[in-house]
Amino acid sequence: MKKKLDYQQILRMASKSMVRVKDPRRLLKMIARYIDREINVKHTSILMYEQAKKRYIFVDSKGDKRIPAGLVRLDIENPLIQWFTRREKIPALSKDFVSCKEICGALSDKKILAEEPELRKRLTVLRRELEVLRAAVCVPGYYKGELLGLLMLGEKKNGRNFSDEELDFFQTLANDAAMAIKMAAYHDDLLDRNRELEEKVKLIESLRAKEQEIYYQIVLSLAREVDTKDSYTNNHLEQVEILGLKTAEEIGLDLEGRRRDVLIASLRLHDVGKIGVPDGILKKRGKLTKEEWALMKDHVKKGAEILEPLTDFRDVAKIIMHHHENYDGSGYPDGLKGEEIPVESRIVAVVDAFHAMISDRCYRKALSFNEALKELKRATKKQFDPKIVTAFFSAIKKIGLKQLSAAS
Ligand SMILES: [Fe+2]
Repeated sequence: MKKKLDYQQILRMASKSMVRVKDPRRLLKMIARYIDREINVKHTSILMYEQAKKRYIFVDSKGDKRIPAGLVRLDIENPLIQWFTRREKIPALSKDFVSCKEICGALSDKKILAEEPELRKRLTVLRRELEVLRAAVCVPGYYKGELLGLLMLGEKKNGRNFSDEELDFFQTLANDAAMAIKMAAYHDDLLDRNRELEEKVKLIESLRAKEQEIYYQIVLSLAREVDTKDSYTNNHLEQVEILGLKTAEEIGLDLEGRRRDVLIASLRLHDVGKIGVPDGILKKRGKLTKEEWALMKDHVKKGAEILEPLTDFRDVAKIIMHHHENYDGSGYPDGLKGEEIPVESRIVAVVDAFHAMISDRCYRKALSFNEALKELKRATKKQFDPKIVTAFFSAIKKIGLKQLSAAS
């Protein structure tokens, strides 16, 4: 003897599955399979609304007398779909499902047919539609009044009619499935929007990176212009970069990734603020007046200002701002001393001073390497950090003075 089904228990289990399953088609197939396995019907079919084509398609069907999935499509003008969309209240007919039994009953009820002259025609069309689909009962699934799917059930194998409990069960199941479909669609929609948003963010980031790169190149060309203005006759910036990087390596600065880029940019751009210093001051042979000296000193602040739009290189602006601070606190602009001065600024100070000394300037001849090295030693502890000077000396040894000279 077949056990009596606990429909409430089945619904509870089905609800749990619906929450878990994100793919509506998979969920509907599970429902069709379940009804086919547990309920004594000749066949079960499930139709789902296809938004893009505005039609209902067979997602799955089970049972011997089933209509194969994909074979039948119901458009929104189909009498069955229209019936469930309009949801009219007609005496003796449930508006929550359509069954052959109810339709046949209504068609033989002269009183009901007399009240509604068009009803016979409509019910006849509806009955024919159910016959074509081989359905004894058709149950709609709504979400917020929107018809999202249909559950079609063939006759029961024992020839009996569906009980009220079974019909209630099918309605609840169909409406729960409709809700799960809608939730899955929201979920997909949310994922799509998320993906779109991520793509937009990536695009904005790449545009921003391009903009930053263009600005960086402009600032770099300004820095080269400064080199020319400053009467450097050799490739001062490139030499300063080589010396600075090697010195940083020697003091054990971690130069992996961004920090290396920051140091290189600082070494290249440290004097870019001199673009605003008049040539007459830059190339003056004699002593600068107080006003001229003030303008000259201002190049560190101007440089930091020029770099302000380079948001990726905020640290570079800070390093440039302090590349004329002295180790004993006697430098400018803030009189920082010792470790208060960023280490990169202390490196720039040493290599820039050294390379300036070994370069010919319009107002003086270059010092020899040994003279310049002596000068650095002399200014250690006052102007320069002793650790950086020591590292610089070993960097010079490793690079080799000849190579430096050849590159100049
Ligand atoms: Fe400078």
